[in-house]
Amino acid sequence: MEADLEDESDLMGHTPGSEEAWVLTTQAAKETKRLGALLAPFLRPGDIIALRGDLGAGKTTFVQGVARGLGITRPVTSPSFILINEYPSTPPLFHIDCYRLEDADAEARDIGLEDLLYDDGVCVIEWADRVATLLPPERIDITLMWLGPDEREIEVRGHGTRYTALVRKLRQEWQAIHEARDS
Ligand SMILES: Nc1ncnc2c1ncn2[C@@H]1O[C@H](COP(=O)(O)OP(=O)(O)OP(=O)(O)O)[C@@H](O)[C@H]1O
Ligand SMILES: [Mg+2]
Repeated sequence: MEADLEDESDLMGHTPGSEEAWVLTTQAAKETKRLGALLAPFLRPGDIIALRGDLGAGKTTFVQGVARGLGITRPVTSPSFILINEYPSTPPLFHIDCYRLEDADAEARDIGLEDLLYDDGVCVIEWADRVATLLPPERIDITLMWLGPDEREIEVRGHGTRYTALVRKLRQEWQAIHEARDS
């Protein structure tokens, strides 16, 4: 299920200022899932995806797509009460939801969030803004905004050289699918 980025050497370098942003609109929950599923094959152990957006914006829906793309068949639900759900896959998926954290940084440390961020899984974090100070600077930020009952604006922003390349690749794949369908 692994996919290659065009220039793997890009992934090794560290250019902290490097950044790539892409904004798209999805018209149905299944499209937001498809975006997650398209991203999944590029993910590597230790990758961090920080999700932002109001209640019902589609964060869990996106994670369901990532899980599908990683080959996870167990249903993915919001881990609001447990804070962290781990799904075995290659790499494993850690689905984290920070909504219920009250003293976010202290509680996040208590539940071992920092260890998890540097573990060998992919961390996808809902309400990531609540633990912003704990997140490494190199990551993907995804912000979902409600436009209408079935419509969401999604901003995908990669920070650092590896994630910049990853966002470019994801955009290309997305556009290839949509152009093929529209023509
Ligand atoms: N284009 C779309 N993208 C994502 N979800 C959509 C879209 N259109 C409709 N929906 C619906 O919106 C809801 C999004 O709920 P979801 O649980 O994913 O949000 P959330 O951001 O995780 O919320 P919470 O902060 O409560 O965890 C789902 O019922 C989903 O079917
Ligand atoms: Mg959710």
